Formats: sequence, structure tokens, C-alpha cells
Amino acid sequence: METRLSPGARPTAPPGLRKFLSLQDFETGARRHLPRPLFEYIAGGAEDSASLHDNRAAFSEFGFVTRVLRNVSGRSQAVDLLGRRYASPFGIAPMGISALSAYRGDLVQARAAAAEGVPMIMSGSSLIPLEEVIAAAPETWFQAYLPGETAKIEALIDRVDRAGVKTLVLTVDTAVLANRENNVRAGFSTPLRPGLRLAWEGLTHPRWTIGTFLRTIMAHGMPHFENSYATRGAPILSSRVARDFGAKDHLDWEHLALIRRRWKRTLVVKGLMHHEDARKVRDMGADGLIVSNHGGRQLDGTVSPLRVLPEVVRAVGADFPVMMDSGIRRGTDVLKALALGAKFVFVGRPFNYAAAAAGEEGVRHAIRILADEVQRDLGLLGLSSISEVHGAQLRDLASRKHPTQLQT
Ligand code: GLV
Repeated sequence: METRLSPGARPTAPPGLRKFLSLQDFETGARRHLPRPLFEYIAGGAEDSASLHDNRAAFSEFGFVTRVLRNVSGRSQAVDLLGRRYASPFGIAPMGISALSAYRGDLVQARAAAAEGVPMIMSGSSLIPLEEVIAAAPETWFQAYLPGETAKIEALIDRVDRAGVKTLVLTVDTAVLANRENNVRAGFSTPLRPGLRLAWEGLTHPRWTIGTFLRTIMAHGMPHFENSYATRGAPILSSRVARDFGAKDHLDWEHLALIRRRWKRTLVVKGLMHHEDARKVRDMGADGLIVSNHGGRQLDGTVSPLRVLPEVVRAVGADFPVMMDSGIRRGTDVLKALALGAKFVFVGRPFNYAAAAAGEEGVRHAIRILADEVQRDLGLLGLSSISEVHGAQLRDLASRKHPTQLQT
């Protein structure tokens, strides 16, 4: 007889959250709550969303072969990563302007992650000074978009160091701004341009306007890009100001060497797809890397990171921490990525939606939903720990081969 409680019936879930049964449910909630330009900014991909779709499709091309009769009653999903122990093998990916989708959104995500024992990566395109977030949640990772300009690199790294950040994530897949037509169509830009269209969105989403936007303005003033550089950047709302995106197209391996020399703590490079780049990053002294196509938001048509994960892991060796993001929505997705060689994964949009729809409790609930799925899936796979997750438990549904056979 089935005695397990369904996630919705979990007694610890506050009543207002019981309708959120899967990560996908938060998207529905956020779509209703957020002004359209903001929702579309979070949800969208570049150009035709080919990468966005492949990020989901790739997971459905792998299936499991389960094992049975293995007493899985003592199973644990805790993992060791970069010198720390985390409660689950996933964390929150960096997402820009999160403090506009939820009141103090970066803090909300960082506190929820800390409370649930998982890492949160704060985006460099954020609207709360990183010092405040690190003071509230000292284990938060910080992600920087650095331009290929030595003085700006050094100044930001020194600031991040002074703030006490322990893990710096350098994103390297944004040499050039992506073509996000959906942002233009939805009326989104940074800064947002005031006008009738934006005013109408504010009027028709009063809970967001009062609870997030006006509350922020009244308590903290107009939000600015606080962490793109060592000094404050553009405001989020302005009819004239242009945002300084810096000379990101100048960034090269010399700059990575400079960053590695100057930043003494943990360095993770994010946004790699090619195994030779991965090996070079390892050889230059990074502590880990994140295989990512930026959630399908940069070069449209880039394959899902899941498709290149095995070759990246082969290139850098099984001991080097290879992480992955882009497209993970289920516990089964987490376990497929781990089976293909990732040590850890990051999930973005659903946690931003959870913050928008239900604040810190919403993000904690979303983390618990995914953790519950991983815990259940481990048991159904016949496994007791994450270290037992292996490629032999997967089949490529098209070829019916083990991924390990496909690699050779
Ligand atoms: C920022 O990284 C974005 O993808 O919008």
C-alpha cells in the first residue's frame, strides 16, 4: 500500500504553498504576479529559443534502468563540493535583477538557500550591494561579468575580496550581448524606460507594484546596478541613462590568468561548452567549472550542456569539479546530469519564480520539492548515496546504449 505523503500533503508546507507541487508550478504563479516585461525577461531565451528547448529535450533522451531489493532506507543526497558539504546536489544559479522580481530578491534566495543547506550564486547584474547579501548569508557565491579591462577587473575583485566572498564565479559566455528579441517585444530593457506601457503594467499588477516596487523605492531608494563594477552603475528605471556593459569582448585567457593571480579563494568558471576550454581552465588553476549555455540566453542553437557533459568530464578527469546548469526542472534531471558526470547542478528560473510568487518561504518550498524528488528518485533507482549514481544506470533512448558506450 502506498503510504508516502504526496509533496502537496507534506505537513510542513504552509497552507499557501501547498498548491505548488512541482518547480513548474511556480512559473504559473510568477506569470500571473509579475508585470509582463519582467516575466518575459526571466522566462525568455535568445532569438528562436532553440537552445532553451534543447535544454529540456536533452533530458528526455535519456532514461533510467532501475535496481531493486537493495534496502534504500538510509539513503542520503548530501554531497561534498569545493571543500564544503551541501544537503543536496543542487543550488541556485545566478539570475540578474532578482530584486525586481521579488522584494529584496537576492537576499530572499540567499537566505532560503542557506537555511536549506545549498549554495546560491548571486548575479553580478544585481540591484543589492553584494556586501549586504554576504553579511546576511556569508556562504553565498558571487558571480561576476568582468570586462577585458585590467583596472576594472582588479577593482571589482578587490571589492569582492573585502566583502568576504569565498567563492567567485566568473561567467565567460557573454563576450557579446545576446539577441533577445523577446525582451524588445515585451517592453523590457535595462534600464527600464518609463512610459504608458510600463505604467499600465504597474496598474494591472498591483500586488507587485505595491509589495515589490514601491516597497523597494520607499525603503531603499531607486535600485541601481550595484555589482557590475567596483562602483555603482545605472539605475533600473531611467528615460536617458545608458548601462555600461564594458569591454566584455576583450576578455581573454590573459585576463583569466590575472584573475587567478589576484583572487586567492575558490574560483569557478561558468559558461563553458568545449572540452578543450574546460581543460585549459583546469590547467590555469580554476577550482571548478560550470558547463552551461546560460539557460539558452546567449548563442541560440548552442546545444544543451547535457550533451557535452561526458566529453568535458573525460577531458578534465573525474576528480575535477564539473558542474552544470540549463534545463533542470526535476529530481530525475538532477540525477541524469550526475550520472553523466556532473558533481553538482544549478537551477535558475524556478527559484526566481518561487521568490516572486511566494518570497523566502516559496524558495525554501521549491528547494524542498526538488530535494524530495531527488530523495524519492534515489530510492526508486535502488541507490543510497549520490556517489552511487553512475552512467551505467542510464540508457540513451535513441541508441539504447549506455552513455559510457557512446563516449568511446
Ligand atoms: C543575465 O545573465 C541574463 O541572462 O539576463
